[in-house]
Amino acid sequence: PVGDGTEWEPTGSLLLTGISALVTVDEQVGSDELGTISDGAVVIDEGQIVWVGPAAGAPDTDDAIDLGGRTVLPGWVDSHTHLVFAGDRSAEFAARMAGQDYRASGILATVEANRETSTDALTDGVRRHLAEFARGGTTTVETKSGYGLTKVDELRSVQAAERAGIDALTFLGAHVVPPEYADNPDDYVDLVCGPMLEAVAPLVQFVDVFCEEGAFDDAQARRVLSAAERLGLDRKVHGNQLRPGPGVQLAVSMGATSVDHCTYLTEADIDALSASTTVATLLPATDLCTRRGPAPARELIDAGATVALASNCNPGSGYTSSMALVVALAVIQCRMTVAEAIRAATLGGAQALNRSDIGRIAVGMRADLQVLDAPGPDYLAYRPGVPLTAAVWRRGVRVV
Ligand code: NIG
Repeated sequence: PVGDGTEWEPTGSLLLTGISALVTVDEQVGSDELGTISDGAVVIDEGQIVWVGPAAGAPDTDDAIDLGGRTVLPGWVDSHTHLVFAGDRSAEFAARMAGQDYRASGILATVEANRETSTDALTDGVRRHLAEFARGGTTTVETKSGYGLTKVDELRSVQAAERAGIDALTFLGAHVVPPEYADNPDDYVDLVCGPMLEAVAPLVQFVDVFCEEGAFDDAQARRVLSAAERLGLDRKVHGNQLRPGPGVQLAVSMGATSVDHCTYLTEADIDALSASTTVATLLPATDLCTRRGPAPARELIDAGATVALASNCNPGSGYTSSMALVVALAVIQCRMTVAEAIRAATLGGAQALNRSDIGRIAVGMRADLQVLDAPGPDYLAYRPGVPLTAAVWRRGVRVV
């Protein structure tokens, strides 16, 4: 039975049946629809989805599991996290709750801790977090470097994430300017664009830059993205997190895959995003934990922009791995519908990672599935904070 903690190893084709709502996140239906099949069934084999449809038409298989009237969705695709970290910043969070503002300079506390932590210990930390993500139904996780800020420490961060088995890896040497370059930040940008990027390039897919007052300005951020483009790497931007700024326009003009945060947007920013292929990745759990926002999700979607939702799990601005919480906040605080929020946390995340093999339940997709102990997907917002994940398959292997 599902939910009893049994590990299941696939021995052939497996039929999942007894699904009250099979949420396929069909690409062909509108942004406020999910392509849900009532009394649906899925067959997985060798890590892939090989059949999807109403249970009545399901084929014969080697094995079958009756899910007892539960809901099945694609595993969450979390396209923005910062998991390579050591140390503890719970006191900073407590101070914030007592009235202190969130400052990007808190990042330097983690930088200090990371520089004193072995690569093995950093790897263990990422592994522990990945197990926590799986328990919450997340089957794809992106993570970033950005707490090393020397060539050696950024390379160690990237190696730690790779060894831990992360799905998508982003270089964020341009997170903040480290103290040793406080008086000559442009020299630090030279280091990021030159030797640092050269060292990590073979291991990463994306290059990211925090374009914000207190981090990197428009011109500096543009240099980082141009250097990435020259090496053929995909680009991301942290932008418009703490105030309106140039991040969104920069991301769109540089053809970035996504711009993440988007908490403070002008009408021109929304227009630019809706006319572009750049995904607006919203991080409502961070806005909650920094007492900001909500981000203008409704306006973005109504204007036609592509929206993703991610956890931004990190030790400073918001330390949650729960995509279910993110979806609930997107509905309750950002006025997204449940369908829009689920799409953004699955297919939207896949688009923010330039991936077409995850984020949907369809033949040929990776067998990344989560089972909710609920009769339908609306329960994700209706029961915020309640752990509804009953089982998870990742690449066809049951991991929860
Ligand atoms: O996405 N904005 C920059 N970076 C992280 C925060 C990291 C931290 O505070 O440690 C973010 O919120």
